[in-house]
Amino acid sequence: MKNHYKVIDEKQVKNKKIIMRVDFNVPMKGGKILDDTRIRRVIPGLKILANSAKQIFLITHFGRPKGAVSKDLSVRPLQDYLRKALSCNVSFLPYVDKPSKLKEKANKEEKICLLENCRFYPGEEKNDLDLARAYANIADIYVNDAFSCSHRAHASIQSITKFLPSYAGPVLAAELKALSNTLENPTRPFAAFVGGAKISTKLSILENLISKVDKLLLAGAMANTFLAAKKVPVGASLYEPNLIQSANMILNLAKEKKCQIILPIDGVVSKSLQAGGVSDYRLNGAVKDDEMILDIGPKSIVLFKKHIAQSRTLLWNGPAGAFEIAPYDLGTKSLGDYIGKRTSAGYLISVAGGGDTVAAVNLAGAGNEISYLSLAGGAFLEWMEGKILPGIEALNSAD
Ligand code: 3PG
Repeated sequence: MKNHYKVIDEKQVKNKKIIMRVDFNVPMKGGKILDDTRIRRVIPGLKILANSAKQIFLITHFGRPKGAVSKDLSVRPLQDYLRKALSCNVSFLPYVDKPSKLKEKANKEEKICLLENCRFYPGEEKNDLDLARAYANIADIYVNDAFSCSHRAHASIQSITKFLPSYAGPVLAAELKALSNTLENPTRPFAAFVGGAKISTKLSILENLISKVDKLLLAGAMANTFLAAKKVPVGASLYEPNLIQSANMILNLAKEKKCQIILPIDGVVSKSLQAGGVSDYRLNGAVKDDEMILDIGPKSIVLFKKHIAQSRTLLWNGPAGAFEIAPYDLGTKSLGDYIGKRTSAGYLISVAGGGDTVAAVNLAGAGNEISYLSLAGGAFLEWMEGKILPGIEALNSAD
């Protein structure tokens, strides 16, 4: 689908009140932010808008409280962080029993105001129109700067666009531009490197990618199901026997679409998955019944690097092995490092995101080298499946 949403700028917000959906769903412990990357991305654009807007209400969810107030999931601890990051006063608007009262309260707030976790409101996840109207009543303009939440048809993402002129925020617009350019208009050869544990969660992604990419590099436990489909023994490895037929369907579809599928040719194996456990190395075909493949092996690393070197655009999702536990992190580290270096040297356009991918990219130390690193989880995966995200569709059809 061709996007035709409007992108916000400082002229449009002059003297206007904005309600801006952001994704400040960041990992926290004891009220302290463990990783502020998602918030940091929004700050520069927010500062620019704040210079000309009359008032900005920031609305975010935090965790999954399922429509009930939960002290542990309050976003109040973010208020201090925002004060420092924006170098100005930021007020906090607590949960109100009746959302219709939001307007009255909002009028008394500071120029920048953070609203309590929107998922405390039972209507948020129900995409409730009355709640959306109550949000809309506090502002003149709605801005969605949360690509990572745009796969949710929720009141602060979708219904609200029915009541206010609605715009894409700067981070969402940049993200969609980078992602759309990659899938719709890639510099070829175009490869996708997909890892992770299960093909059950990625079947639709693989099906969609096959008609777009020239090569599909598969790793992680997911690749085991493909090896099993090709009758390569995988011993006690994690794989999905009930999906062998689907794996064969993907392999056939790839042939039809002239997409080359690259599977690992060797692996690092062990009898148990534990840090510093005894590991060994096996070529395909030599894995014993009681052994699990926990990472791609050195020959596969060389093979995958060769295919990455032949590519000009690469889409990366998921780790190459059980990367949280050394020594099974080596495949992910060395491929991530290589992708980063090819990108920095100007040979490759790389886009990574979804699920564990940010952690995998960071493990490889490639966070600053990847051309575009999406911080979205589920939204990135749904985008890779070719799905239309409700939040983006709403912006496309909004006034
Ligand atoms: C995320 O962390 O992927 C987003 O904040 C969306 O969260 P959700 O999966 O709870 O909707």
